[in-house]
Amino acid sequence: MKQADYDSWARTEIDAVERALEAWVPSDAPAGLGLAMRYGVLDGGKRLRPLLVLAASQAVHGLREAAMRAACAVELIHAYSLIHDDMPCMDNDVLRRGKPTVHVQFGEARAMLAGDAMQALAFEVLTPCNEQLGAPGAASSVPPALQARLCSLLARSAGHNGMAGGQAIDLASIGLPLDEHTLRDMHHRKTGALLQGSVLMGAACGSATAEQWSALADYGDALGLAFQVIDDILDVTQASVTLGKTAGKDIDNNKPTYVTVLGLEAARRHAHELRDKAQAALARSGLADAAWLSVLADKVVERDS
Ligand code: IPE
Ligand code: IPE
Ligand code: MG
Ligand code: MG
Ligand code: MG
Repeated sequence: MKQADYDSWARTEIDAVERALEAWVPSDAPAGLGLAMRYGVLDGGKRLRPLLVLAASQAVHGLREAAMRAACAVELIHAYSLIHDDMPCMDNDVLRRGKPTVHVQFGEARAMLAGDAMQALAFEVLTPCNEQLGAPGAASSVPPALQARLCSLLARSAGHNGMAGGQAIDLASIGLPLDEHTLRDMHHRKTGALLQGSVLMGAACGSATAEQWSALADYGDALGLAFQVIDDILDVTQASVTLGKTAGKDIDNNKPTYVTVLGLEAARRHAHELRDKAQAALARSGLADAAWLSVLADKVVERDS
C-alpha cells in the first residue's frame, strides 16, 4: 500500500460524503435553522468518523448505501456534539473548523436547535423510507434489520453511556485532580464511543464473524482513546491556526486532560501504545482488506490538527 493510494481513496470517499451531506442537510428548514445546520456540518473537519465507517465497511465487503448513510449519520452526530461543546454553557469557544462557532454566528438558541435537529436528522438518514420520495431515504436498498442495527449502534455511542455521558463527566470534572482510571473512562465515553461506533457501524454493513467483530471493537476502543489523548496533546502543542479551534482551551477552562494527569511525554507514549494495541487488534481480525483501517490508526496518532 502506498501513501498515494490511501490519499486517493480518502479524497474520493470524503468527496462522496460531502455530496451526500450536501443533499441531505436541508437549506429550507424554518427560520434560518437549515443555514445553521449546514454551517455546522458542511465543508469542514477531517471527516475521520465517516472514513472509519467506510474503511470498516470495505474490510467486510459491506453494502455501500448503508455505509454511506452511516458515514453521514455519524458525522451529523459528531458535528452536533461540536456545536453544543463550543457553547458558553460548555467549553465557551469562538473558533471551530477555522470559522466562528455556530452560536457566535447564529446565536445560542439557534445553535442549540441546530444541534438538536442534526441529531434527529442522523437517525432520519439511517432509516430511509421508500414512501417519501425526495426525503433522505427515498428508494433505499438498506434492509430494515440493518437500518435498526445501525440506529442502535449510533444511539448507544451518542447517548448517556457514550458521548453525552462523557461530556457530562467532563463538565463535572472541571478543576478536579482526576485519577487516570476516571480520566480514561471520561475519554472513552465522550470521544471513544463515537469512534468505536463508527468502526462497528461499518462492520455491521457487511458480514463479520464474531471474532472479527470483537477484534474490530478492540481496534475502535484503542483508536478512540488514542484520538482524545492526542486531542489533549495538540491543545497544548499546536497553534489555533493549525487546529482551526482555540489552542490552550483546556488549561483556560481548567480541564483535567492526559497532559495534566500524565505529563506531555507520558501522554505521547501512551498514545503510541494505544496505536499499537489498535494495530494488534486489527491483525487479529485476520481481515484481508483492512489496509485503510491500519493507515487510519497511524494517522490518528501522527496528526497535527
Ligand atoms: C474534535 O474532533 C472533537 C473531539 C472529539 C476531540 P475532530 O478533531 O475529529 O474534529 P473535526 O471533525 O476534524 O473538526
Ligand atoms: C469534545 O472534547 C468531545 C465532544 C464530544 C465534542 P473537547 O472539548 O476536547 O473537543 P475540542 O477540543 O473542543 O474539539
Ligand atoms: Mg469539551
Ligand atoms: Mg471543547
Ligand atoms: Mg480538546
